[in-house]
Amino acid sequence: MNKAYIKALANYIPEKMMTNEDFAATLETSNEWILTRTGIEQRHIAAEDETTLDMGMKVLENLKKQGINLDDVDGIIVPTTTKDYPTPSTSALIQNALGLKNCFSLDLSAACSGYVYSINTATALIESGVCTNVLVIAIEKITKDVNWNDRSTAILFGDAATVALLSKSNDDSGVIAMDMQSRASDILIVPSSGTAIPISVQNIEDGKHFIHMEGSETFKIAVTEFCNSIEKTLKEANMSMDDISCFIPHQANIRIIQYVAKKTGFPYDKIEIILNKYGNTSSASIGLALTEAYHSGKIKKGDNILFTAFGAGLTWGSTLIRW
Ligand code: UT7
Repeated sequence: MNKAYIKALANYIPEKMMTNEDFAATLETSNEWILTRTGIEQRHIAAEDETTLDMGMKVLENLKKQGINLDDVDGIIVPTTTKDYPTPSTSALIQNALGLKNCFSLDLSAACSGYVYSINTATALIESGVCTNVLVIAIEKITKDVNWNDRSTAILFGDAATVALLSKSNDDSGVIAMDMQSRASDILIVPSSGTAIPISVQNIEDGKHFIHMEGSETFKIAVTEFCNSIEKTLKEANMSMDDISCFIPHQANIRIIQYVAKKTGFPYDKIEIILNKYGNTSSASIGLALTEAYHSGKIKKGDNILFTAFGAGLTWGSTLIRW
């Protein structure tokens, strides 16, 4: 069986940045509350006229600057909660902009678990021989779905894009275990703009097009399923947390990460944390952290890297990679 490995990585962070103090100026909140309850210090916001496609092309430019050739890409997967259009898919727009002919494109809807689901899907496509080189481009302009008057959600999210190029491996490096799980729930939902609650003046006036989250309920399920997914993935690989060099969890709340570290006994200093700088960037968060860790030289060949995500759906899952 072919193995799939991550060949190249890049990030794109929009220029505009908002601090906790910026929110404290307009909402009944404080830097202290946001920092202690979430771990977030700042987040970046895409420009008003910047589309998901624009962000995708910018992150690909950052990949190409590393000398990466995309001519042989035969699959594009875009996890995103903020597509440009209901149809066509953003991945198809990217394929078109790249001028790729022998290639398929797919948008993947798994909210904050989108990166893990997409890496796992790309791996399955490469392992089965369907594809050879797959781009996973997680792009989130999630702040467009945020009600800026709702202090319980507005302070949480940030915009970003990240790309991973997966290719067929020639040695024993690559993905060695995967987990994907889900359960239907409306505790984290953008209610309107689909067929169930269509766009209407009334629904917009009622704020149905914004993110609604039952925060503490989501928190409770997240910590449980994080631990469950880690356990399942390690078991599949016949490993323990002692074999993991670097753990990259989805970045929604520092207290979730601290809880998971304590529960699994994983050393906190081996966890990649970027939440303070970027907030919750949904499907982009694990890729952002992985890319920063890789480019700063923290990840070495042979290291076992574990990603674990949790998000709306509800969805959760993990990827374990030997670098
Ligand atoms: O990424 C996908 C998955 N998402 C998650 O995993 C997120 C999970 N949830 C969380 O991270 C946390 O639940 C939140 C950060 C969203 C909220 O933190 P919490 O400690 O669970 O707070 P809470 O919702 O229980 O609210 C506690 C209090 C409430 O006031 P009362 O009712 O006790 O008077 C809220 O109104 O904190 C209040 N509050 C705020 N106060 C100041 C909520 N947001 C704010 C705020 N500033 N920004």
